[in-house]
Amino acid sequence: MGEAWDAGAIMRKLDQLAACTERPGGITRLFLTPAHGEAVHLVRGWMDQAGLQTMVDASGTLVGHMPGGPAGARRLILGSHIDTVRRAGRYDGCLGVVMGIALAARLRGAALPYALEIRAFGDEEGVRFPVTLTGAHAAAGNFDPAWLDSRDAEGIPLRAALQQFGCDPSALTAGQCTASGALAYLEIHIEQGPVLEAANLPVGVVTAINGATRWEISVRGRAGHAGTVPMAQRQDALAAACGMVLAVQRTALAHPGVVATVGRISASPGATNVIPGECIFTLDVRAPEDALRGIAEQEIFQAMANLADGSRTHLEVRPLHAAPAIACDRRLQSLLADAVGAAGWPVLHLPSGAGHDAMAMAALCPVGMLFVRCADGISHHPDESVTEADVAVALEVMVSALSTFDVDALA
Ligand code: HGY
Ligand code: MN
Ligand code: MN
Repeated sequence: MGEAWDAGAIMRKLDQLAACTERPGGITRLFLTPAHGEAVHLVRGWMDQAGLQTMVDASGTLVGHMPGGPAGARRLILGSHIDTVRRAGRYDGCLGVVMGIALAARLRGAALPYALEIRAFGDEEGVRFPVTLTGAHAAAGNFDPAWLDSRDAEGIPLRAALQQFGCDPSALTAGQCTASGALAYLEIHIEQGPVLEAANLPVGVVTAINGATRWEISVRGRAGHAGTVPMAQRQDALAAACGMVLAVQRTALAHPGVVATVGRISASPGATNVIPGECIFTLDVRAPEDALRGIAEQEIFQAMANLADGSRTHLEVRPLHAAPAIACDRRLQSLLADAVGAAGWPVLHLPSGAGHDAMAMAALCPVGMLFVRCADGISHHPDESVTEADVAVALEVMVSALSTFDVDALA
């Protein structure tokens, strides 16, 4: 087996992977960029070392396959993502991918009754293009061809970026990325929240993943001279947008369980002495139940419409992404819980406020997730961190879960 593939080896590999970034001094690795290409090359080398059959599919997903079971045996998929947000941490997504490779390497001689497949998705964060989970949606057979026309900030269409990366968009739209026959999808991921740390536990079993919608909000008023237009006559797009941002926060606070975020805002023409004529910002709304998310969104949009009227500006709301809340399969939750117990740890079940590739994979097969404690719940930030000891526990739990996985239980 060569490489030890223990927790220490996983941590060292995650440090190496962190160096695949658009600029030194932080981790930024957006979908189909050269940094993503470097990461695919590095991770593919580890998959080769682990004895996996590797390929990059037409959606940019790196796939490592380990045959197993009788002829035509179905596959159990482990995966997560290797793309990041801007100025990211080094464990979000990447931990699940590297741990999957370690598990395949450690179980290669175990004569598993199924094939094992590791997927490194390239577009979970949805930072570069106004779409997200495209690789996991492609694996689930749900890639929307319209996404190929979405453009990044430089105006590059996804179609062109895929071609430049060496992918064939026509294979993608022909459904050639579908991971048909998948038994189940399991994702190991940092919690990105404070619950496990508060409970003083290294791992937890995920019950459900919050649903999420992303929107682009445009507010159009009238640019003008900052020195001469009387205040009462202004149609100030940025001032109106600021009221809307506060309405987002107020509405979310009024609905326990709802979280809503304005992550990016820009005003134009963007000069000190010009009244902003246009303001565009993003909105991200999440909740454990889809109905609750809908209620919050309706209240938010009504407040925005009132503020637009009151400021004589024009409001436009454009949906970018929607993922319904999904439940993790109860049989997979039990599989993981039994493995956590067998490793000598109390079992904590918890929901995920963050989105994951599992949300899209749930359309293909039953999904389960194991969370790993992260310090102070910090994520999407350079201070994101896990301990080698907790990674070792997660590794032990997953070896136990994969060794006891009953193919017939999910057939
Ligand atoms: O936004 C999320 O929840 C995930 O990190 N993409
Ligand atoms: Mn993630
Ligand atoms: Mn993330």
